[in-house]
Amino acid sequence: MKMGGMKTTISFILHLLPCLVFVGARPATFNDDFRVTWEESHIKQIQGGSAIQLILDRSSGCGFASKHQYLFGRVSMKIKLVPGDSAGTVTAFYMNSDTDNIRDELDFEFLGNRTGQPYTVQTNVYAHGKGDREQRINLWFDPAIDFHTYTILWNPYHIVFSIDDIPIREYKNNEAKGIPYPKTQPMGIYSTLWEADDWATRGGLEKIDWSKAPFYAYYKDFDVEGCWMPGPKSCITNPNNWWEGQAYRQLDAVQQKKYQWVRTNHMIYDYCTDKSRYPITPPECIA
Ligand SMILES: *[C@@H]1O[C@H](CO)[C@@H](O)[C@H](O)[C@H]1NC(C)=O
Repeated sequence: MKMGGMKTTISFILHLLPCLVFVGARPATFNDDFRVTWEESHIKQIQGGSAIQLILDRSSGCGFASKHQYLFGRVSMKIKLVPGDSAGTVTAFYMNSDTDNIRDELDFEFLGNRTGQPYTVQTNVYAHGKGDREQRINLWFDPAIDFHTYTILWNPYHIVFSIDDIPIREYKNNEAKGIPYPKTQPMGIYSTLWEADDWATRGGLEKIDWSKAPFYAYYKDFDVEGCWMPGPKSCITNPNNWWEGQAYRQLDAVQQKKYQWVRTNHMIYDYCTDKSRYPITPPECIA
């Protein structure tokens, strides 16, 4: 009995080991998984590299990207957005396949606002080159006072955008109904802080106030778990990848309830119900 238990434990550990080694300790430092891709001087590593400061001023914005691409997984980070008068600034956090014509992309975009006005979070999903699936919510908290966790889960079953474990968007795999789903192309993880006052705030009416520059956003607790490409093939076919497990294949009852709360109380735009843009409701909206 005792021996049997021991044996089971050992074989359990041995079975798990390759996974654990692969995933490693999380959260990681910036340098473990990311590199600066735009304006080295405007991204400062702080707290021993476990956090970064992004800077936007008249001379430049900045950006970073993951060192690897991933095929399925979950990426999350804690972000503290530009405080106060952030109108005209956009902070983005997204995944992208970097394939021009058949681009897959999953976007989180944080659109700044005038002091006291709510930040808007825009999400979008590109599948096989087609995007134009914008949804917007106004946040129920001030995202510039504290760090909040922003997460993208992507597996063969669905894509879920969450804020502090509250799902704000779900895009299901409805390929069976002929609806495109990002599934074959690996995606990298990207982030940028830049000026977009021609469209970002109240459709471009509110301009950036450069007298308030430099603008700062902060990131920490980088957590990327997934199969990197090109990486060990055993990862992609491993049925034990937790991000594809039973609990991650659909929203559970509690998550559904939170999701409904966001949609009812905080959604300010949904392409699915924009009749002037889509006289015929896009198929994924009714699937
Ligand atoms: C900014 O605030 C205005 C007024 O409250 C609001 O209509 C808008 O959705 C907010 N967000 C953006 C990005 O303009």
